[in-house]
Amino acid sequence: MQIRTRMCVSLDGYVTTPDGWPVQVADPNWSPEAFGFVDFQKGLDAVLMGRTTFEPAISAERWPWPDLDNFVLGSHRPEGTPDHVVVDSDPERLLEQVRAANKGGDVHLVGGPRTVETYRRLGALDKLGLIVMPLLVGAGLQLTPALSTDAALRLEEQHVLPKGAVELVYTFG
Ligand SMILES: NC(=O)c1ccc[n+]([C@@H]2O[C@H](COP(=O)([O-])OP(=O)(O)OC[C@H]3O[C@@H](n4cnc5c(N)ncnc54)[C@H](OP(=O)(O)O)[C@@H]3O)[C@@H](O)[C@H]2O)c1
Repeated sequence: MQIRTRMCVSLDGYVTTPDGWPVQVADPNWSPEAFGFVDFQKGLDAVLMGRTTFEPAISAERWPWPDLDNFVLGSHRPEGTPDHVVVDSDPERLLEQVRAANKGGDVHLVGGPRTVETYRRLGALDKLGLIVMPLLVGAGLQLTPALSTDAALRLEEQHVLPKGAVELVYTFG
């Protein structure tokens, strides 16, 4: 099992739009299929994310992670959270539950930056994957300052994706 991100980031370095949506929604060409997320999900057992990232999924038209275990780091269980979603306030205890449920597939650490940094600091993040989108959004949330700038990054993979995006995968150290 590997824990990996695949976060979308604009060419000017933002992971959200100015009003707080994941930055990919600003791309008129955006779809999970076109940017490789459907194929990526085939190798996964679970998704792991922070409560802020999770909450919009509760009212989404379509559940974004069918057939995957769902783990959420948060101090409370948001109203309307489906019963199968595991919510825990302690990052290490949640990680134990992720590991206990794992059947050999990878875990997608969806985000956001605070939760990515929490698991990076614990030494649990195997791969920092980024999808650089052909977008300039001007403002929004960046990976830093949530992510510590002392993280040493090593480029492991690069792929040119359709629709002008580029996938970069880094390991640490
Ligand atoms: N571009 C992309 O691919 C992408 C992907 C995912 C998310 N996003 C964006 O990222 C933004 C959210 O990012 P974010 O960093 O602000 O929030 P986040 O990581 O999604 O969630 C933060 C919450 O997770 C819990 N948490 C995080 N670290 C913790 C720790 N060490 N101990 C205990 N609890 C912890 C806390 O929940 P409680 O407050 O309940 O205690 C905290 O408020 C959203 O706007 C979303 O759109 C973008």
